[in-house]
Amino acid sequence: MALISASLLAADFGHLGKEIASVEKAGCDWLHLDIMDGHFVPNLSFGVPVIKSLRPLSKMVFDTHLMVQNPDEMLSWFAEAGSDIITVHLEACRDVVATLSKIRSLGKKAGVSLRPQTPVSGLEPLLDQLDLILLMTVNPGFGGQEFMNDQLKKIADVRAMIGRRKIYLEVDGGINHKTAKQCRDAGADVLVAGSAIFKTDDYSAALAALKK
Ligand code: DX5
Ligand code: ZN
Repeated sequence: MALISASLLAADFGHLGKEIASVEKAGCDWLHLDIMDGHFVPNLSFGVPVIKSLRPLSKMVFDTHLMVQNPDEMLSWFAEAGSDIITVHLEACRDVVATLSKIRSLGKKAGVSLRPQTPVSGLEPLLDQLDLILLMTVNPGFGGQEFMNDQLKKIADVRAMIGRRKIYLEVDGGINHKTAKQCRDAGADVLVAGSAIFKTDDYSAALAALKK
């Protein structure tokens, strides 16, 4: 059974507390927090104070996806704000081994993400330092984009690479009830969904459709 990580980016920013309560009540497992710096991706989202304010409102796992260039300086900010998992982009790190070990030394689970065009070979030397691999199934930067079908093979390849290790395989971008099933069949066990949850008026039904 796959876990669902609801992407806050698609929520109503005027009522974040209410949105989180609704999605948690509907049975959502994780909350996906997309942090964008306007450099690594051509967009800005929200930052540390928002996470800090939301933390006391929810028991969901805070799954933080850093789409920022050179994240090292910021890792402790996100750890202190209450993130449980901190994921960085392989393409954005100068020394990803050091970055991942810093995340773990802060007592958090460490993840690495790949853009759709980035080959999976870069993951191989990192496998023993990872708690999560996040495969982007759209170009990062915006919610509401269409799922890239050519990423399904990559998901299967990474699942095979993970083998018996305890590493989550998460997918992000364009996940709806149809692509969710394709991703699960390919080997993903955490599905990020923004629009497919928050742009509907029944979050329980949306979650059930993603898990079916
Ligand atoms: C895109 C973000 C995603 C995005 C997914 O850069 O990483 O998490 O919010 O949104 P949907 O599910 O609407 O494609
Ligand atoms: Zn994301």
